[in-house]
Amino acid sequence: MIESLHDSSKRLPMNQGLTRVIRGPYTAFRLFLDRICIPVWLRWLGVTCGQGCSFIGRPIITLAPGGTIALGEGVRVFSRANSNPAGLPHPTILAALTPESAITIGKNTAISGASIAARVKVTIGSHVMIGAGACIWDTDFHPVDPYKRHQHPTRDARCAPVVIQDDVFIGARAMILKGVTVGWGAVIGAGAVVTRNVEAGQVVAGNPAVVIGSSLRNIERVREDS
Ligand SMILES: CC(C)(COP(=O)(O)OP(=O)(O)OC[C@H]1O[C@@H](n2cnc3c(N)ncnc32)[C@H](O)[C@@H]1OP(=O)(O)O)[C@@H](O)C(=O)NCCC(=O)NCCS
Repeated sequence: MIESLHDSSKRLPMNQGLTRVIRGPYTAFRLFLDRICIPVWLRWLGVTCGQGCSFIGRPIITLAPGGTIALGEGVRVFSRANSNPAGLPHPTILAALTPESAITIGKNTAISGASIAARVKVTIGSHVMIGAGACIWDTDFHPVDPYKRHQHPTRDARCAPVVIQDDVFIGARAMILKGVTVGWGAVIGAGAVVTRNVEAGQVVAGNPAVVIGSSLRNIERVREDS
């Protein structure tokens, strides 16, 4: 009895089997886009992709001539709406806005429909998890002074480099703004607005983000792991 139950549980219900047959070519086409076309297209645009980078869906790339976007080994970039159960509000956006801009992302970092924009420099470490719809911007995009905005909508916007160190976890829809450094292993709560530096191992949340706890319970194990 147990065996027969076990056997029948291996069989797919007919509707699921049919769905697989019907969707097979579509799935194969998507795999072809994700595994072949998108990496080739990114390299053609001038994005540096380390070995084993993977993409689900097409990210949105802005790369000014002379700017750099560099993805380390094993970086995973999610851009299709259903590629994360949290739901992506938009594809991942990587924007190096000027010839001096640089976005650098370390190995094994995962990005889910986030927006990362640099006028100067955004540096993201290894093993960082960036939640759905998070924003990491080193610029205000527009100047604060209306007179300057009349003269030019973006030119005099304030900017300062952003650094996200290794093993940081950034919650969904968090915003990390210009000049911020987030220390090793820190956690940024969902929806947090971070305008000041976060120390290693702090858990911060809210608007403006304040410290609500510590993430460093297994510090030695993580060090052994990496
Ligand atoms: C930051 C986070 C990790 C903290 O989890 P936790 O350590 O279990 O914290 P708790 O739930 O015990 O909350 C501690 C306090 O912080 C508050 N808090 C927790 N997360 C918060 C957030 N995102 N924004 C504002 N306040 C928050 C709680 O209300 C609680 O306040 P209180 O002590 O006054 O009651 C978690 O709340 C979170 O935001 N996770 C992100 C989930 C996510 O976005 N995943 C990625 C999907 S792609």
